[in-house]
Amino acid sequence: MSATNPTTTLITNIGELMTQDLEHRVLKDAAMVIEGERIAWLGTSKDAPAADEKIDAQGRAVLPGWVDSHSHLVFAGDRTAEFEARMAGESYSAGGIAVTTGATRSVSDDELTRLVRDRVAEAVSQGTTYLESKTGYGLDVENEARSARIAAAEVDEVTYLGAHLVPNGSDPEEYTDLVCGPMLDAVLPHVRWADVFCERGAFTEDQSRRVLTAASDAGLGLRVHGNQLGEGPGVALAVEFAAASVDHVNYLSDKDVLALAESWAGWDPATGSGTSGTVATCLPACDLSTRQPLAPGRALIDAGVQIALAANCNPGTSYTSSMAFCVTTAVLQMRLSVHEAVRAATYGGALALGRESGNDVDGERAVGSLVVGHRADLHMLKAPSATHLAYRPGIPLTHSVWRAGVRAV
Ligand code: NIG
Repeated sequence: MSATNPTTTLITNIGELMTQDLEHRVLKDAAMVIEGERIAWLGTSKDAPAADEKIDAQGRAVLPGWVDSHSHLVFAGDRTAEFEARMAGESYSAGGIAVTTGATRSVSDDELTRLVRDRVAEAVSQGTTYLESKTGYGLDVENEARSARIAAAEVDEVTYLGAHLVPNGSDPEEYTDLVCGPMLDAVLPHVRWADVFCERGAFTEDQSRRVLTAASDAGLGLRVHGNQLGEGPGVALAVEFAAASVDHVNYLSDKDVLALAESWAGWDPATGSGTSGTVATCLPACDLSTRQPLAPGRALIDAGVQIALAANCNPGTSYTSSMAFCVTTAVLQMRLSVHEAVRAATYGGALALGRESGNDVDGERAVGSLVVGHRADLHMLKAPSATHLAYRPGIPLTHSVWRAGVRAV
């Protein structure tokens, strides 16, 4: 045990410790001990055990690090002109993806790696400690495999999104064959999830069904981009295929909300046990940037649906990695309480990635909540409570960040 390499770190005098555990506990005048990559103890400051290193939080709030379960970090270029046109009244369409695909294919592996790494660093600097990224700007076998390989080295979870857009000049059915066959085989060593953009201008219901079937047969977990630009079959498909999440969910019929709620009927939120359903992932930064109606997060929670909030960092619809911005918007505009919004951006993201529970032994540690044995992913705020995230919109409130027990900020 030495001061430069402590095996245990005690953080004491925490004004508010928002655990986001199954009991939704919020501890006052709290303390916690980090041991290696895990949380070893938490309780009140007066009961705290000794440790090799002691940090005084000086009354600041501590939350779980953000779990950003939806991003598209593997890209080159930006789409400023498209954004400006949209702000001048144009509407968003999937076609812009082709612009980014061209830019992405044109850069070297080293450059693409650097771009992804810089984006991960930007996210971590704002409190994100667990991060998913999709492929989807390669759109041929070689470039999708390259995107998946680079992402796997830089982020925690990788999702295959060959079914993002049918490339210009390709036949949609032949391209879907490629996505379900040789492209899937090429990305498989690098990915845990597969996704499909089931939307007008992207993939039809039948094509989406083929992609989800092939990915499921290959052993991948599933997610769907659905109901972003209008009502459609995305949510129903996601529930039918027991996808871990359906993302965007801006335009939902009563039937969609009911189907999502019913997908959670076999899961007990008090114990986190049973069969989990399909998380509805809301992407408020994207909704604002595309001038779509905000996803109905309040109605989804009230119906019994588990929701996540994610930043959706990508060059087309949401060029931000700020989870705090999403939480602020969810409180101010979507009518979530601060606790609900923080939960959706931590525990909810972990649920969407199947990482909300784990074990205390082999490194498959849970993320998204502060519980003994879970990964020590902590976000300390320059504020006494998480309420300040919404009360002081736009103010950078990250004070410090621990990622898997290592001080990252
Ligand atoms: O999640 N909706 C599809 N994919 C991205 C946008 C991709 C783009 O326009 O480059 C999204 O918003």
